[in-house]
Amino acid sequence: MSDIVKRDMVKRWIRDDIRELSAYHVPDPGKMIKLDAMENPYLWPDEMKQQWLSQLADIPVNRYPDPSAAKLTKRLEQVMNVPEGMRSILGNGSDELIQIICMALAKPDSVVMAAEPTFVMYQMIARFTNMKYQGIPLDSEFQLDMEAMLEAIETHQPAVIFLAYPNNPTGNLFSQQDVKTIIEMAPGLVVVDEAYHAFAGHSFMPMLSDYDNLVVMRTVSKMGLAGLRLGILSGPDEWLSEFDKVRLPYNINVLTQFSAEFALEQQTDQICADREILKEAMTGLKNHQCSPFNSTSELIGS
Ligand SMILES: Cc1ncc(COP(=O)(O)O)c(C=O)c1O
Repeated sequence: MSDIVKRDMVKRWIRDDIRELSAYHVPDPGKMIKLDAMENPYLWPDEMKQQWLSQLADIPVNRYPDPSAAKLTKRLEQVMNVPEGMRSILGNGSDELIQIICMALAKPDSVVMAAEPTFVMYQMIARFTNMKYQGIPLDSEFQLDMEAMLEAIETHQPAVIFLAYPNNPTGNLFSQQDVKTIIEMAPGLVVVDEAYHAFAGHSFMPMLSDYDNLVVMRTVSKMGLAGLRLGILSGPDEWLSEFDKVRLPYNINVLTQFSAEFALEQQTDQICADREILKEAMTGLKNHQCSPFNSTSELIGS
């Protein structure tokens, strides 16, 4: 087949709007220090790496993974403080969760809204899924321009509004009250994307039960596990069970499921070990009228 024939076929069958796009380009940093993907710069200690490697060898790669990663989902819900009664699904990075949300909401003419500048995937995935995209500029302090946001909500009736909290690339938290007002005024879903929650002093996770149209998305990418590709979306079962229908089975591979559980276990082990060190240090302070009080795990065990 000649190149011209191939090009004609592609032109006939590939959507015009997809042909007009450029593929997402990640520049090679060469010898420069790579900061643009907001990765965590710290690697695991050698001892932890060796332990991980030795256990990795026993992973049955001949088998499909647990299709819904139930054990890991439960563990992540604990670590992320997902409120009781909420449901979660996992994604191959939160990128995949954004895609799942948009696929499920993409009725003809439905609108994705976000405050700009923000994470570029909201707009890109809106285009991939044939949704309309409305970006509303932030104000000069990088806060939500509430007048413009509320007017755009009224005009465009967005199916979904994405709010990165803290925002990327501006790095700030939006006013809590503004975000609450947007959730209250939105006719559709509001996704609070807490990719950087570990570095922020506030979260909307505890407010999931206060709103019927709020879901919270997080990722382990910025916590030093970007290579695993793992995100979590939590919220009311009514939304999450619909999103789960468009999630591909086995989307979290065995190596990721194992490695994330391993990392989370190590983290708790480390915190428990730190707690012992702190307890001993505090015991040494007894003369200064300080007596350590045993906390959760010991109380549960007793
Ligand atoms: C605000 C925001 N959301 C989501 C993501 C994507 O995270 P993941 O690596 O889980 O796909 C990023 C990555 O930079 C981000 O900045």
